[in-house]
Order: sequence, then C-alpha cells, then structure tokens
Amino acid sequence: MEKLQVLDKTFAVSIPAAQIQKEVSRVAAEINRDMQGKEPVFLPVLNGSFIFAADLLRQISLPCEVSFIKLASYQGTQTSGTIREVIGLNTDITGRHVVIVEDIIDSGLTMAHMIETLEKQNPASISVCSLLVKPSALKVQVPIHYHALDIPNDFIVGYGLDYNGFGRNTKDIYTLVES
Ligand code: IMP
Ligand code: MG
Repeated sequence: MEKLQVLDKTFAVSIPAAQIQKEVSRVAAEINRDMQGKEPVFLPVLNGSFIFAADLLRQISLPCEVSFIKLASYQGTQTSGTIREVIGLNTDITGRHVVIVEDIIDSGLTMAHMIETLEKQNPASISVCSLLVKPSALKVQVPIHYHALDIPNDFIVGYGLDYNGFGRNTKDIYTLVES
C-alpha cells in the first residue's frame, strides 16, 4: 500500500485516482441530465473542494457560472459561540439554481449552516454536491443530492483535503494509518 507522510502522521492510499475520476464523471453526468435547460451557479467551497471542482466543472456541459466561496469562522464578541459567515459570493443568486460543491460532509453542520445562509438570498433551488460523505458521522440531516463516494468515519487527506493545511496536492485519497 502506497504511504504518504503528512507532518507527524502516516496515511495510506484508500481511494485511487482512477476510482475518484470514475465517480466524478458519474456525478457530472447526473448534474448535466438533471439541470438540462437550466443555467446553474456552482459554488465550490474553498479550500478543500478546489481540485474536485476543477475536475467536475470540466465535465459540465451546461451554460453555468462558477463562484468560489469560503466560510470564515471567528469568535463572536457578544456570544460565546463561533460565528461562521459565508464570504466571497460575488454573484447574485436570487432566482438561480445553485449547486454547492463541497469536499466532504462529516457531521453535516457546515453544510446545514451554508444552506441556511444561502436560502436567505432566495435562490430558485439549492443542490448539494459533495465529493465525499461520512454517513456514520452525520449529526444533522442535510439534503445531499450528488456525491461521488461514501467513506467510513476515518480521517482522510488528498485530492484537495488537508491535515493542518498540508496534503492537499495528491491525485489519490489517503486514510490515516493508526499507529
Ligand atoms: P462537518 O461540518 O462536520 O460536516 O465538516 C465538514 C468540514 O470538515 C469539511 O469541509 C472539511 O473541511 C473538514 N473535514 C471533515 N472530515 C475531514 C477529513 O477526514 N479530512 C479532512 N478534512 C475533513
Ligand atoms: Mg471544507
């Protein structure tokens, strides 16, 4: 098994590039079919989805726009909780068919918050497209319209996903090896 060292941790290939590409092509075909006659706005969520979005979008044959967004987290001064704000959305999504492009849905909390925020701008529809889903880690119900692969509740890196900022630049996906 091919190993990858990222900072202090060791990872092993769990999803080879060819399998990722096959599933990304399938998802692109599903979106092309479902959104026929529409002009969707794709919103890839930085940083983790940049490679997935680049591969996916090259296989989308619909007239569409792409606008990268990011979730900024900061501690509120009045409340004790962390505030997460969607930044970078420079396209008016009112009345538009929106496709959120995510790297991974773990607890689902990030996506639930994203949907709630975007709904305030009255899009015609919101679809969720995630490269990966950890079904056993889900804590809240989120609609997942498109996803490439289900994975167990393990920590992974590669193909855009990171461990403390490192490990994004690989073609394969790697799983943490318990030591
Ligand atoms: P959620 O809010 O728990 O669904 O977390 C989603 C976010 O956590 C993702 O967008 C990733 O940035 C990060 N994340 C969750 N699981 C992993 C993982 O296994 N590797 C790297 N990042 C992860
Ligand atoms: Mg992410």
